[in-house]
Amino acid sequence: MKVTVVGAGAVGASCAEYIAIKNFASEVVVLDIKEGYAEGKAMDLMQTASLNGFDTKITGTTNDYSKTAGSDIAVITSGIPRKPGMTREELIGINAGIVKTVATNLIEHSPDVILIVVSNPMDTMTYLVHKSTGLPKNKIIGMGGALDSARFKYRLSEAMEAPISDIDGMVIGGHSDTGMVPLASHATRNSIKVSEFISEDRLQQVVEDTKVGGATLTKLLGTSAWYAPGAAVSSLVQSIACDQKKMFPCSTLLEGEYELNDICIGVPVILGKNGIEKIVDIPLSNAEKTKMKESAEGVSKTNGLLDV
Ligand code: LAC
Repeated sequence: MKVTVVGAGAVGASCAEYIAIKNFASEVVVLDIKEGYAEGKAMDLMQTASLNGFDTKITGTTNDYSKTAGSDIAVITSGIPRKPGMTREELIGINAGIVKTVATNLIEHSPDVILIVVSNPMDTMTYLVHKSTGLPKNKIIGMGGALDSARFKYRLSEAMEAPISDIDGMVIGGHSDTGMVPLASHATRNSIKVSEFISEDRLQQVVEDTKVGGATLTKLLGTSAWYAPGAAVSSLVQSIACDQKKMFPCSTLLEGEYELNDICIGVPVILGKNGIEKIVDIPLSNAEKTKMKESAEGVSKTNGLLDV
């Protein structure tokens, strides 16, 4: 199993690190345009191998896509991250060109690759990869919902003073401050609805904190987060690489599911060796349907800025 991570910045390096630590891939190639940067990150990570007990071989390359040839999975983290006060949508001008070039180069050297798009605005970048490559839809996956769901579970555990392992919950919709749809009414602690443990007001606060999870960290860190994004990507990669068929909310092209068409947005999917093996169409309440529709309108508006 060969995995390429494009972009050796904080998110890309964190992806490579978590994939390696989980020890399921034989090879991880990290590629960056900055001279020597990916090579340096790869060497530093390899020097953790004997300490952390993994056998994954990590190598770095400065923009040489021939080194990525034969990749089973590639993760696109390239582009600029947001700065405090910026929305993910504001990155579109710079990131669209970068993501399109990176996807084209990856597919040229690995025609059977499964792509995971992380660059923001993620849902629109995922849509762009659909429009600008001939890859089948099961091989184009946008990572946002797995991260937002992890943040939702963190906020729920904090509010409920409960261990995170007791908690289950999911965030669907667009990966944006206004577009996320945390499914609060479906969230549980050991199969009991979370509303049995916290007040409606507190639950609403959890929902709002979840939606601005990325922005909160960007404000604290001065740039966007990397540990949870990297860990979320590594979980998707593992589910595909090990054919685990786990369910995650991911951005995928919808063709009628959730009453939406010609849009990539976060919905639950099954991830296995073929990438997206199934879109899971779960019943939503009327309020959730309305929120999903509004979220899709926001993503479509951003898609309208694309030159495709
Ligand atoms: C975040 C970025 C990765 O939410 O979109 O932290």
